[in-house]
Amino acid sequence: MKIAVIGTGYVGLVAGACLADLGNQVICVDIDESKITSLEKGIIPIYEPGLEEVVKRNVLEKRLSFTTDSAKAISDSKIIFIAVGTPQGDDGKAELKYVYAVAETIGKNANEPKIIVDKSTVPVGTSRKVKELAEKFSEHRIEVVSNPEFLREGSAVKDFLEPDRVVIGSDNSEAAKAIEDLYKPLGKEILITNPESAELIKYASNAFLATKISFINEIAAIADRVNADVSEVAKGMGLDARIGKQFLNAGCGYGGSCFPKDVKALQKIALDCGYKLDILREVEKVNEYQKMLPVEKLKKELGSLSGKKICVLGLAFKPNTDDMREASSIKIIHALVKEKAQVVAVDPIAEENAKQFLPKIHYEKSPYAAAKGCDAVMLVTEWNEFLELDFAKIGAEMNSKIIVDGRNAYDREKLVAMGFKYIGIGR
Ligand code: UGA
Repeated sequence: MKIAVIGTGYVGLVAGACLADLGNQVICVDIDESKITSLEKGIIPIYEPGLEEVVKRNVLEKRLSFTTDSAKAISDSKIIFIAVGTPQGDDGKAELKYVYAVAETIGKNANEPKIIVDKSTVPVGTSRKVKELAEKFSEHRIEVVSNPEFLREGSAVKDFLEPDRVVIGSDNSEAAKAIEDLYKPLGKEILITNPESAELIKYASNAFLATKISFINEIAAIADRVNADVSEVAKGMGLDARIGKQFLNAGCGYGGSCFPKDVKALQKIALDCGYKLDILREVEKVNEYQKMLPVEKLKKELGSLSGKKICVLGLAFKPNTDDMREASSIKIIHALVKEKAQVVAVDPIAEENAKQFLPKIHYEKSPYAAAKGCDAVMLVTEWNEFLELDFAKIGAEMNSKIIVDGRNAYDREKLVAMGFKYIGIGR
């Protein structure tokens, strides 16, 4: 099948490369010429494990190509994926101007009936508007299918090729079948529904996962007060198949380009249809509080943070990505600096991006160098290499042996036995 993917952000690039890997002829389009030139040379603009390999293989096998010429890509393709950004607008609503601009371009360049697949995260009702807009500029019939993405940064290629489910929303059975055929080789559950349900599934899924995280963070607050261990509580809860053990790690809050934005957008969607979604306001409130919690706990331990040297391990919003958007580290470090602490940070990949948000702190390449002379080490992003540290070596470098485990990722007993003061979240 000939496919164009418009937008080469992490969703578009992963979808394009993986669809090519499934044997389709895919052309990825972006307005950013330098990005396209780099991609043609096999340079991937984002850090996403496994992506480079899939891109290079499919370019070599001539199934994947890149262009800035959207008109030609559209006229050459039967199926056109929209994978442009939907950033948060002023009122919390998703900004749709990029999606609509692409819809118009598709309409203007459609030389035959086309199928648009909307992969961008868009408010309920957008698919229908995209159809209206594209058809306004075209003499051909244009079907629109909502096909939300459930990719996680850091495991996006795997998530695309081994999804829990594929959701297809369309009122047109032929269009739905064409998109179903693209995903059939994956051998996974495919849900076909109407466009509005598909659009709502995306927001409801992200909002539910964010709610799960804030819920366990509230349980952690109770655990802290009653001498319970939230990790054990989460394990016990998660063994119930109805609850499930994933996304029950208490810690210093969720970040990234999706949960914070989608939790806001779903509240706006609700308000726009006359409903107030109170639960998500609380989810956000808890999350903001969690981001401050490691600093509060450390302040309680040390009395004052003024002049204290704090080593922060991990800056990206989660491991295996260089993405700093809404990362808990930003709020935590701002709070430490406000308390007049001296911050030394280390992250395996995100340092360059972090400098845009945190230009004034000191960066080190190794956790051991960062821990030198520190009054506390604070784990903010649980990269594997921070989990496998030589704690005897770390402890020997530190001024006082305090570990704040912002992700509940360390073995508390082991650290306590080694003479560390261990401060976790709800344990
Ligand atoms: C999320 C969803 O998991 C994907 O399914 C979805 O496709 C994507 O958003 C999107 O809408 O594009 P992502 O933002 O890449 O993916 O990251 P997650 O792995 O979901 O983690 C989000 C945040 O939650 C991270 O800051 C992480 O540290 C935090 N988290 C996660 C917790 O605090 N506790 C947990 O138990 C799990």
